[in-house]
Amino acid sequence: MRSATPIQPVSVKNTLNPVEYSMAKKQNLIIGLDIGSHAVKVCQIQKAGSDYRLLAVGSAAIPPGAVEDGVLQDPDEVAKAIVELFKNLKIKSKRVGISISGYSVIVKKISLEVMSDEELADYIIEEAEQYIPFDIDDVYLDYQVIRAGSDEFDRSDIMLVAAKKEVIDDYLDMLQELKLLPVLVDVDGFALENIWECASDRQDNVALVDIGASKMNINIIADGASVLARDVVVGSEQLTNQIANTLEIEFEKAEKLKLGQIPAGEYQEELEEIFTQTCTQWVLEINKAIDLYMANNPDKPLVSLVLSGGGSKVRGLKQYIAAETGLDVVAFNPFSTMKVNEKKIDREYLKVIAPELAIAAGMAIRPAEF
Ligand SMILES: Nc1ncnc2c1ncn2[C@@H]1O[C@H](COP(=O)(O)OP(=O)(O)OP(=O)(O)O)[C@@H](O)[C@H]1O
Ligand SMILES: [Mg+2]
Repeated sequence: MRSATPIQPVSVKNTLNPVEYSMAKKQNLIIGLDIGSHAVKVCQIQKAGSDYRLLAVGSAAIPPGAVEDGVLQDPDEVAKAIVELFKNLKIKSKRVGISISGYSVIVKKISLEVMSDEELADYIIEEAEQYIPFDIDDVYLDYQVIRAGSDEFDRSDIMLVAAKKEVIDDYLDMLQELKLLPVLVDVDGFALENIWECASDRQDNVALVDIGASKMNINIIADGASVLARDVVVGSEQLTNQIANTLEIEFEKAEKLKLGQIPAGEYQEELEEIFTQTCTQWVLEINKAIDLYMANNPDKPLVSLVLSGGGSKVRGLKQYIAAETGLDVVAFNPFSTMKVNEKKIDREYLKVIAPELAIAAGMAIRPAEF
């Protein structure tokens, strides 16, 4: 991991260890902890040789408002969910990775003239302020060279990440209270990219789209690198809110109607209209990102769109996005190439929950040694 300041915990993208391990050697990986606005997701994976084995997965809902816009508003409730998950899943390991998103994190690609590692580190510390809209003293900084200068390119592309200290520190304080050891603070979009690269052997240009409860993360990967990454403030909670408002019913009942846990009955028509309206807006946002990407990369067409997150499970959404974007739409199963501890994990449960676990899985494949 390359760091601008040694104490900072934000880690940019891929620190996956290039060291070769003998086939039988087990490697300790960290516990992936994805603290979303709807639920906390936990994932534990083991690596032996080049094989990944899923040891434990789980999700626990948190009360609405406990995490808002990526900010920890109610640490006690979130801590309760984490404790419950660790206890139920019998996870003993303390080394965890969390990821952040929302207004408190800025990810920016910058192009700089070629310089040595030391010069680059100094440059970032000195000049980062001009690239980010926050006071430099208020943020943790990290960066990674995503394309080094060469004979072909006389400049280097750098991915710069700045995350608000107060927001990160709230998470770290909560984890420390729980006697957990946060060894990684990732960014949702990078975690998604890492698990996609791990789970797919294809080098195609793809759009990764994670639709959560309150935000949609879009990350377009071309030639093996992230070209466009953005968070959009739409998600499945929008559906619940609209159902609750339109039908003048409680949020909990609206959520059940949305998930089909209670029959639509007399509300069928209104529900369909709400789904259509909201999904149209989601597709509009996806198409905006794709159009921007295509305008800048006309020679690198996208092959498919990979969907994850709880919101991606809206019935018919896959087909709708396929029709509106003209892309092959794939429901992402981050564990498709992994072995699964069948004694502990029910196959059916895993099938249902897999899309929500992409980001947690993206952290759970990172080595614990860094
Ligand atoms: N079948 C379904 N149809 C529609 N929405 C669903 C379905 N299953 C789950 N969801 C929704 O997915 C959301 C949870 O997904 P996820 O766990 O990815 O969100 P999150 O990570 O907590 O949120 P965010 O990333 O936006 O902070 C909830 O709003 C839930 O209602
Ligand atoms: Mg999420």
